[in-house]
Formats: sequence, C-alpha cells, structure tokens
Amino acid sequence: VLAGAGAAAGGILLQSCATLPESAPRPAPAPRPLAIPPLAPSTSDGGVRTFRLTAAPGDSGFLAGARTPTWGYDLPFGGPTLRAARGERVRVHVTNRLPETTTTHWHGMTLPAVMDGGPHQPIEPGATWSPEWTIEQPAATLWYHPHPHGHTERHVHRGLAGLFLIDDAAGAGGPLPHRYGVDDLPVVVTDRVFTADGSFDETRRNAHGLVGDTLLVNGTVAPYHVATTARIRLRLLNASSARCYRFARSDERPLVLAGTDSGLLAAPRPVPDVLLTPGERAEVLLDLEPARPVVLRSLPQDLGAVSGNERSIGALDTLDVLQIRPAAELEPAPPLPAALPHDPGPDPATATTVRRFELGNNTINGRTMDMSRVDEVVPAGATEVWELTNVHSRPHNLHVHDARGQVIEAGGRAVPPELRTWKDTVYVPPRTTTRLVLRFGRHADPATPYMYHCHLLYHEDQGMMGQFVVAPPGTTEVPPILAGGDH
Ligand code: C2O
Ligand code: CU
Repeated sequence: VLAGAGAAAGGILLQSCATLPESAPRPAPAPRPLAIPPLAPSTSDGGVRTFRLTAAPGDSGFLAGARTPTWGYDLPFGGPTLRAARGERVRVHVTNRLPETTTTHWHGMTLPAVMDGGPHQPIEPGATWSPEWTIEQPAATLWYHPHPHGHTERHVHRGLAGLFLIDDAAGAGGPLPHRYGVDDLPVVVTDRVFTADGSFDETRRNAHGLVGDTLLVNGTVAPYHVATTARIRLRLLNASSARCYRFARSDERPLVLAGTDSGLLAAPRPVPDVLLTPGERAEVLLDLEPARPVVLRSLPQDLGAVSGNERSIGALDTLDVLQIRPAAELEPAPPLPAALPHDPGPDPATATTVRRFELGNNTINGRTMDMSRVDEVVPAGATEVWELTNVHSRPHNLHVHDARGQVIEAGGRAVPPELRTWKDTVYVPPRTTTRLVLRFGRHADPATPYMYHCHLLYHEDQGMMGQFVVAPPGTTEVPPILAGGDH
C-alpha cells in the first residue's frame, strides 16, 4: 500500500526510503517542455502484435551547452512506450547494439519464465532475443529495463528504461483520461549527478547506490507541460536507482489515486501524497483550473527513528518534479468515475503457504544471490502470503516477478480490503514487517527461475536477490539450475 493511501486512511505511513551526495549547486536550468516518449510502432505478424526494440549507445542534450553519453532503446535515452491489450499475444524483437551483454525484463508482467528477461536470458552484443507471450492481466502501467546480474544499476542509470502499458480488453478508453501525451501522460522520474563535462557521474555511489541531485522526467530537466484539459492522468514511475519520491501537489489539493503497480483501484481515491520507492508506479488524476499553474512536487519523507539513512537517499529534499501549466481554456472533465474496471484482490484466507523473508544488510534470509541456487518452489497459480521483515536500518523494498498481489498488513497495522491496491513492488521501511498476499502465474517451468529482489538497484546488484521456480502443483524436488548469464 502506498504511504499516501495509508495517510488518507488515518495517518498510517509516512516513511520513505534512500540520501543525497554533496555537490556544487548548479544554476537553475530553464524550464523545457516535458518530452513524451513515442508509442512504439507494432506490426501484426500472424495475429501477434510485434514490436522491435534496439538497445544502443546514444548522445543526449539534457543541459544547455553540454552533451551527455547515454544508452537507450531506439532513443538516445529511455525507450518508446509499448502498449497492448489484455488477451493479446505479443512478441518483442530486442536487439543488443551495446558493447556488453544485457537483458530486457518486463517488470510487472505475468508470463513464462523463459520470456521474463531476468539474468538467465542474456542478450549478447549483436544478438536479438524474441520473447513472445499472451497478456493475461488487467490494465496497468508496467515498464521494461535491463536485469543483467550485478550490472542492473549501471545499465538502467545510463538510460535503459521504458513503459509498457496494458489496456483493458475493451480498449484504452474507459472512464479515465486516455489520450496518450495529451491528457494521459507518462512521467518517468529518475535522478542523476552530472559531471563538469555533462556526463552522468557513475562514480559517487553511497551504500544505497547512485543518488542524483538533478531530476530527469522522461529525460527532461526542469520540465513543464501545457495542459489543455481540466483533468490529466499521470502515470508515475520511479525509475531511480535508490531515491524515493513522495509526490504531492503544490496547491495542497489532494492527488486522486486511480491505480498502483499492477492494476486500477475499485474507485478513484483522494490522497494527500503518494510515496513511490524504486520500481513502483502509480496512476494519479489532477483536476486543473484554467491558467492556474500547479507543480507536482516530491516532499521530504520520514524513515523512522531507527534509520539514519535519510541524507544518503535524499529523503530530506523537496524537489519540483513537473510544472503543469493549464491553458486559458480547458476542455471540461466529467465528474470523477464512481468505479473503475478492476479485478478483486486475492483473499488471504485462500493462501496455501506463508513464506517469511528477512531483509538484512543487502541479504535476504541471510543469503546473497546465487544464480545456480533455487531458493523457493511455488506451485503454478498459487495464492501465497509473503511476510517481509526489514531487520536493518536501511530502506529496502521487494519486487516479485510473475506475481501480482496486495499488501494486507504494514507496520503492524492491517490494511482493510477496501484500501488494498494491486502491487508487484512493496516498500518495507526499516525495522518493520509488511505482509502481502500474492497470486502467481500459471506457467510451470521448474528449470527456469524468476527473481525476487530489493529494487534499490545497487542493493540488488550486491546480491539482495533470490530465485524461485513455478512448478506443477505437487512438485517438491526441482532440478538444479545451471549457472549462466553472469557477466
Ligand atoms: Cu524491475 Cu527484477 O525488476
Ligand atoms: Cu534494498
């Protein structure tokens, strides 16, 4: 559950996550129009919606008078937005034109393990990988990024990340704003430190990873967007390595939460703020007045008395994320919808297993990642409760591949069913326990693991990751996994 949602429910959580390096203040850059990543073109190949992505080095102009070497999918930085509907069959030809091996992971997707794009599906330089699967899940804002074991932070930091939007089978419409780039806006938020020559600084890493002093939103520094409608929908993605954002409006009106990681809410819900740790998404609605600018901000966060990690993850900062400039005349918006297309959550009473995970000093249950070890065996299609305890003073979150679920308890408080939202990545504040009910995919493959890991990418690279296989129900023994793809 999001902090904002919790706060709205009675002031539960206002914690945050990762601290900030010291650096010379840079003159405030002139505002620029928010870049909108293009929608990826697709062809229909025997009824399969087929996309092509090429990961390659590029050259970007983020700062006036400076060039920045970057990596991107089809773009110098970032990647196009892939879009497909529930029920569709999709294929993506991913070509690697980088000087090193990478992978492309579909974050939030329920799909066969060999299509997942984790560390076991390397794409060598010059090679093309062509995963294909059927979209089996409801409308949501997912994303894609590299996942090579030990190097994920660096690959994502250079710019490899894009959105993957899933529409409901009925189409992109429904009661929410859905004109891409007009009233339905991607907002991919990352942070960087620039060196004097304009390059990304990849050297000043603290215990949480690379934490920047300059925000890039869809690759734009100091972005503004001219709104022409009285309501806009923002698809927020925290694509940062370690920094967490507590999003709020500058005019102190609530944000209206419509969706979280892997699905829409039953109904839009006003919340004072929305906390997103790395990898998390939220869809929020903002109602606007003609010619009255609003700033989407990130506010300071409280990590709790036990932490002491506030500065190193930037949790004390107030940052402008996106200026919204409404036009003098706005296309009117209908009343907020009373209900959204929504799948009811799994009932924790039907869970067949409770698994416990201790998040430590970049360890999970005292261990670090081993690509040849299977840590957990999950029956295909299972509903399980995962209990995550952060026994450390560091902020951590946990992302589980292939699964979608809901937080049922956080910080010692039960989350009532009406406040649960669909998640694939959950924050576990220092010295607290989060319980979630997860529903796993139905694709059994005892030979190919999926990952679960902290999505603070440097923690993940340091080995804060484990592997599970999805096996036919009743399987207790699984074949050993061969090491591979460790580059
Ligand atoms: Cu977004 Cu396993 O990653
Ligand atoms: Cu972590």
